[in-house]
Amino acid sequence: MEKFFAPCPRGLEPVLAQELTALGGAEIYAVDGGVHFNGALTLGYRANLESRIASRVLWRVCQTRYRNEEDVYKAALALPWPRWFDVEQTLRVNLTATRSPLKSLDFTTLRIKDAVCDSFRAKFGKRPSVDTHAPDVRIHAYLDAEKLTLYLDFSGEPLFKRGWRNATGEAPLRENLAAGIVRLSGWDGVEALLDPMCGSGTIAIEAALIALDIAPGARRDFGFEKLKNFDRAAWEQMQAAALAREKPRTQLPIYGSDLYGDELRYARTNAEAAGLADVIQLKQANVLEMPAPAASGVMVTNPPYGVRLGNAEDLAVFYPKLGDALKQKFSGWRAYILSGDMALPKLIRLSASKRTVLFNGALECRLFEIKVVAGSARKPKPAV
Ligand SMILES: C[S@@+](CC[C@H](N)C(=O)[O-])C[C@H]1O[C@@H](n2cnc3c(N)ncnc32)[C@H](O)[C@@H]1O
Repeated sequence: MEKFFAPCPRGLEPVLAQELTALGGAEIYAVDGGVHFNGALTLGYRANLESRIASRVLWRVCQTRYRNEEDVYKAALALPWPRWFDVEQTLRVNLTATRSPLKSLDFTTLRIKDAVCDSFRAKFGKRPSVDTHAPDVRIHAYLDAEKLTLYLDFSGEPLFKRGWRNATGEAPLRENLAAGIVRLSGWDGVEALLDPMCGSGTIAIEAALIALDIAPGARRDFGFEKLKNFDRAAWEQMQAAALAREKPRTQLPIYGSDLYGDELRYARTNAEAAGLADVIQLKQANVLEMPAPAASGVMVTNPPYGVRLGNAEDLAVFYPKLGDALKQKFSGWRAYILSGDMALPKLIRLSASKRTVLFNGALECRLFEIKVVAGSARKPKPAV
């Protein structure tokens, strides 16, 4: 049984835990920022291939207590690195820490790198080189107050890079966060789904990948392929099975629109790169004026907000109009709106039936669930 850790955008840990359970993981437990799970080495491959939510899948190779940098060096030196990769391969060490007593995390990172190189030098008289940009092998170290954990990165490039995004507009969501909010919306893959402020199309594209059962990692490379214990036959079989189960790419009631033609061009380019140009329906439109594309459905969207886009005055005008548009044209729809603006329901004058805390990078957001029913409009206050 191997031990893994999959980091994910904060707030999506329960959704990731559900995914990993469905993939056959054992001893799953979520912590802030990710989920631990156990399974065969090939479960690590499967999680990379199938998880829509994880940012990476890390294979744990050591966990031990430490008190100082020397303890960290010795723990890293004791590991059989040459059994896992070749001296000709390049490497990079990443370190994250919470409540670590060590003074310099940069120095500790260097000590781990030294230990890995020293273990090769002792055996072969030469050491692997460091490549911080595109290394063959990534080593992740995590320090808490007392324990050091070392991981080999099974993912390589982070998993939100599915391989289709070439073009981005102003503030694109990461693909795994987009997939996460589609999951949290409870969309069934059949009813209509609309992102009326779609930017580069991330939400609509992730929704289409879910509906067509397209594994997010079916068309990219992974870090585990570079390791000596790589089971190529098992991987190729898994990848082929994933490709074989994909549903035919026919048009679905998944709609994306944006006010700006430039944004929409990015969305089109990305949909084409994902092979979904004929599946999702993209169109230039103003959310304040467009009709609903179906009598009922799910709106999943990430409107402009103060921190990244739009100034406060523009948004103060925009939000109430957005609320009016929802009330007038989208009764029968459920809306899931991701925003860093905690006062959004008040600003659009609709009440939220659920709020989920999510982080878009470092930015704390809420996913507001708003059920739009006829007469959602708040009654005007009676005149005094
Ligand atoms: C935060 S971005 C969405 C990013 C998108 N989720 C992505 O992954 O690329 C907000 C988008 O709202 C669009 N927008 C602003 N005002 C709009 C309006 N009145 N109607 C439609 N779209 C609008 C902007 O052009 C921008 O692309």
